[in-house]
Amino acid sequence: MAYKSRIVQIFIFIITNFFLLLIIDSASSQNILTIESRSDPATPEDCSNRWIHIRNLPSRFNLDLLTNCSDYPLFDDFCPYLANHGLGQKTHIRSRSWYRTDPLLLELIFHRRILEYPCLTDDPDVANAVFLPYYAAIDSLRYLYGPDVNSSFQHGMDLFQFLRSDEPGIWERNMGHDHFLVMARPAWDFSQPLNNDPPVWGTSFLELPEFYNITALVPEGRPWPLQEHAVPYPTSFHPQNLTYFEAWIQRVKRSRRTSLMLFAGGGGIGSAPNIRRSIRNECENGTIKNNISSSSSFNIVQRNGVYSKLCHIVDCSNGICEHDPIRYMKPMLQATFCLQPPGDTPTRRSTFDAITAGCIPVFFEELSAKTQYGWHLPADKFAEFSVFIPKEEVVFKGLRILDVLMGIPRSEVRRMRQSIVELIPRVMYRRHGSSLELRSKKDAFDIAIDGALQTIKDKLGDTLEH
Ligand SMILES: *[C@@H]1O[C@H](CO)[C@@H](O)[C@H](O)[C@H]1NC(C)=O
Ligand SMILES: *[C@@H]1O[C@H](CO)[C@@H](O)[C@H](O)[C@H]1NC(C)=O
Ligand SMILES: *[C@@H]1O[C@H](CO)[C@@H](O)[C@H](O)[C@H]1NC(C)=O
Ligand SMILES: *[C@@H]1O[C@H](CO)[C@@H](O)[C@H](O)[C@H]1NC(C)=O
Ligand SMILES: *[C@@H]1O[C@H](CO)[C@@H](O)[C@H](O)[C@H]1NC(C)=O
Ligand SMILES: *[C@@H]1O[C@H](CO)[C@@H](O)[C@H](O)[C@H]1NC(C)=O
Repeated sequence: MAYKSRIVQIFIFIITNFFLLLIIDSASSQNILTIESRSDPATPEDCSNRWIHIRNLPSRFNLDLLTNCSDYPLFDDFCPYLANHGLGQKTHIRSRSWYRTDPLLLELIFHRRILEYPCLTDDPDVANAVFLPYYAAIDSLRYLYGPDVNSSFQHGMDLFQFLRSDEPGIWERNMGHDHFLVMARPAWDFSQPLNNDPPVWGTSFLELPEFYNITALVPEGRPWPLQEHAVPYPTSFHPQNLTYFEAWIQRVKRSRRTSLMLFAGGGGIGSAPNIRRSIRNECENGTIKNNISSSSSFNIVQRNGVYSKLCHIVDCSNGICEHDPIRYMKPMLQATFCLQPPGDTPTRRSTFDAITAGCIPVFFEELSAKTQYGWHLPADKFAEFSVFIPKEEVVFKGLRILDVLMGIPRSEVRRMRQSIVELIPRVMYRRHGSSLELRSKKDAFDIAIDGALQTIKDKLGDTLEH
């Protein structure tokens, strides 16, 4: 224990001082950026309408929260994943771009990345948006899994009181409409109605009228989005320069796809009919059919001469895949379609792992992606890069996923894969401190910031009109 807490202390010392250095340094680094962009007219750094002020919060709202990373009785120790400013440890010593990333640390990843955003301002009065570096999901753990479970409606009150008492003018200027933050868990975990007695699940952060005006970036929104907008879950891929990024893209393009479809996940074990159960059934039966020469699937395999497997299941039960991307990335590189059935909630990080591997996602619910990630995955383009099979058709009407996927012509599959490869930069969080060439590609963070700025602009426009 002592050893562990010492490691955490050292880490916090490093991160704090690094943040301080960056903050102290920000005036000069902005100069450097401006000079560089001036000398390169192809990438003018135009900050108009894009200024962001990072609200100065006491460390109890962010860095202090990391000290308890091993202390939540019902929640796994997440201390190991704090490394590299929330990207986690590299998967192995010589790994270039792959880390053991835990999606809970998206708040840390955003915090680190926004420190190198080119249009930061110290003056809240000229800012178009105010970022709150609050680790909301990490702070929620004490309500979700800790001693404060019975006061989950208080999550966020301390923050609100701080915002209203310390330099209250920053909030009052636009009544919080220009404030945004990241909350690294599905919005469900923060939207327990205030009058639930006893509490069922979640904190009430997003239900508090105090926070109705803010914009929250979450990995999964509610079906009726209110304050929140969904952004991609972080995958394990965080390249730091163009060489590493392009090396991966080449690997994705060249990879031989020997499985028709792949499911990486758990569930579907029980007897209750659900989409995961159906997938398991099909995969088990599909393998059998593969061995019977008279079956239709066998014939298709023969005719195309490509797939050695119709269905591949990577069993990720008990969280064994979570911090071990090799387990599923290799099979995803070798599959044409990656199934994305809903689990406890409609969305999955695996959707973004699949896109990163060039594996065409198959969705069974609109809520799994299409109605969520509009900034990153344009809703009107879904047919170009994904397959949609309503889960009811599969679970209750006997539609076979294999039949649908085998019915897609190979030329169409090739086009879809090209579209998927083009999406890879949009869903990746590149490593902080990346090379300038890689920074010229918009990644998931850049697109999220653009989206937040636009949302805030629209809201302020509306507020002024009324
Ligand atoms: C960390 O846990 C200790 C007790 O284990 C508690 O006293 C302290 O308030 C916690 N700190 C934070 C920031 O939650
Ligand atoms: C929360 O409230 C329930 C019901 O009143 C009680 O059984 C439980 O012990 C409380 N939990 C904590 C951590 O105080
Ligand atoms: C939210 O904005 C509305 C006006 O749009 C304002 O009346 C209200 O007081 C604001 N809420 C907070 C907590 O500032
Ligand atoms: C990318 O980084 C690696 C390791 O630092 C280096 O060897 C390589 O030359 C870099 N590529 C570019 C284009 O900067
Ligand atoms: C797969 O096999 C199971 C049992 O072997 C059977 O209940 C199920 O109907 C089969 N499903 C399909 C789609 O053939
Ligand atoms: C199908 O064939 C493979 C190898 O040809 C064999 O390992 C597997 O057990 C067979 N499956 C069934 C269900 O017969």
